[in-house]
Amino acid sequence: MKRLLLLNGPNLNLLGTREPDIYGQSGLEEIERDLQAFLIEEGWDLISFQSNHEGELIDAIHQANHQYEGIIFNPAAYTHTSVALRDAISAVNVPVIEVHISNVHSREAFRRESLLAPVCWGQIAGLGTIGYKAAALAFLEEDKRKDD
Ligand code: DQA
Repeated sequence: MKRLLLLNGPNLNLLGTREPDIYGQSGLEEIERDLQAFLIEEGWDLISFQSNHEGELIDAIHQANHQYEGIIFNPAAYTHTSVALRDAISAVNVPVIEVHISNVHSREAFRRESLLAPVCWGQIAGLGTIGYKAAALAFLEEDKRKDD
């Protein structure tokens, strides 16, 4: 069965209670459950992992190599700081879509820069939690396109 990895970075375990005006009311477990249900209907599976630690996210990316069709990754604050996560993405053969719940381009200036986006397949920002589903859809559609 084809599968995707959903990776969420620091503070995203607090979704639902963390700045709900910016990040919405849904908790991470609910987001993970909904996305898995969506993928299962398409015949794919989803494995989810959240960590507040940069090294654990790096390990998860390494372990994903050749194991997943793609990674849906919200690197949270590490987006703007982590050369190590960028290098991890560059080191593996799994396409990554960077997702941000909020519109990082309409917030503080430091959120406009992503060190990771240049080595990702694409970036989605500002659609709320729909962004995770949009990323999953992109992987599904790309897979169908490759089969044609
Ligand atoms: C975020 C945006 C980041 O700037 C921030 O540090 C987060 C969440 C988002 O999903 O909008 O923690 O990645």
